[in-house]
Amino acid sequence: MSEARLLSVLDTAVDGIIVADETGCILVYNKACEKLFGYAATEMIGRNVKAIMPAHFAREHDSYISNYLTSGEPKIIGIGRRVEAQHRDGTVFPVELSVGEAMTPQGRQFIGILRDDRPRAAYEERVAELQAELVHMARVTALDEMGSAIAHELNQPLTAAMLYLQAATRRLKAGEGEPDQLVIDVIAKAMREAERAASIIQRMRNFIEKREPNRRWSSVAALIDEALELALVGAKGRNIEVVRRIDPAVPQIAVDPIQIEQILVNLMRNAAEVVAGREQRRIEIGAVVDGDRLRISVRDSGPGIPQDKLPDLFKAFSSSKSSGLGLGLAISKSIAQNHGGELSVEPGGHGHGACFRLDLPLDAEPTADENVSDGGS
Ligand SMILES: Nc1ncnc2c1ncn2[C@@H]1O[C@H](COP(=O)(O)OP(=O)(O)OP(=O)(O)O)[C@@H](O)[C@H]1O
Ligand SMILES: [Mg+2]
Repeated sequence: MSEARLLSVLDTAVDGIIVADETGCILVYNKACEKLFGYAATEMIGRNVKAIMPAHFAREHDSYISNYLTSGEPKIIGIGRRVEAQHRDGTVFPVELSVGEAMTPQGRQFIGILRDDRPRAAYEERVAELQAELVHMARVTALDEMGSAIAHELNQPLTAAMLYLQAATRRLKAGEGEPDQLVIDVIAKAMREAERAASIIQRMRNFIEKREPNRRWSSVAALIDEALELALVGAKGRNIEVVRRIDPAVPQIAVDPIQIEQILVNLMRNAAEVVAGREQRRIEIGAVVDGDRLRISVRDSGPGIPQDKLPDLFKAFSSSKSSGLGLGLAISKSIAQNHGGELSVEPGGHGHGACFRLDLPLDAEPTADENVSDGGS
């Protein structure tokens, strides 16, 4: 094929194609590149490829090439990866770059194929956002953020009001002479109302915590993997080493997959939040059979849980985080117990992270189908 013919073929390619020599000087620059970078081929032929890289990348590029030429150790050649490119107008954007090399009579040449990665980046970002939203919504479906805040705020003054009313009744009854029956009746009414309000709050809590599990045969590995994906999506999960050990002896288990995933997501999120910004960022997930139970463990490399936090850890609204609702562990524990299982913690500390353990009975049966549908009315 003649060179002119070859060039015209390259111009039909959807991907950007650049051929450069050992010094990074551009020899071939196809039509797709013109669109991608905003420079015409006539401007770019003979220039260094650094012209289409952001400054911090361009500074290193000469040393990348010379390192490769002396060590022969490829960082990108034959591998391909996502890098940053720079448009003529200064916009920096992600491209998927794969580089090959060829020995020619004119010396060694590098062939780069570039694909605009912005559509994928935007798509991935959107998926991450949606998933994060979903995790959040699943947690607070019935009791929304506002409801939980109100419940939290109301409980304390309500309890206090009841105590004052009880004390007032006692004082009145113990006082000199006949107590004023009207006042006692009014106080009794106030107490009944306060009690009613307290029981409404209690019911709101029970409502989110007690849903009958809809048991299905489920693969433990799939539950763990799906939860990992939901929990570690987006910035939160970046740069965390995840170790996953599932004993091959672990069988399928009849559980409500959505509810069990919710527990795992809560535990993994807590773990991810606690290792974020630390030097060591590791989460270990394990699954083993222990007698007639399945034990799933989520261990982190965080600081562990201080002794004084332990008693309230699984109680609702016990968050130490500014944005936390403090519902994750409370809901998780009640789901575990609803399944005939248990959620417990080894607090760690002294250089060890916390280890949460979810135990589930292995002998449960799937929910019968007639109980699964909600019957319509
Ligand atoms: N792996 C862990 N290591 C150390 N502390 C933890 C860990 N998991 C939970 N905690 C502590 O327990 C508290 C309660 O956890 P929980 O998941 O119930 O609520 P949260 O994460 O604060 O809020 P959210 O309702 O958003 O999950 C946390 O605020 C944190 O202080
Ligand atoms: Mg949490």
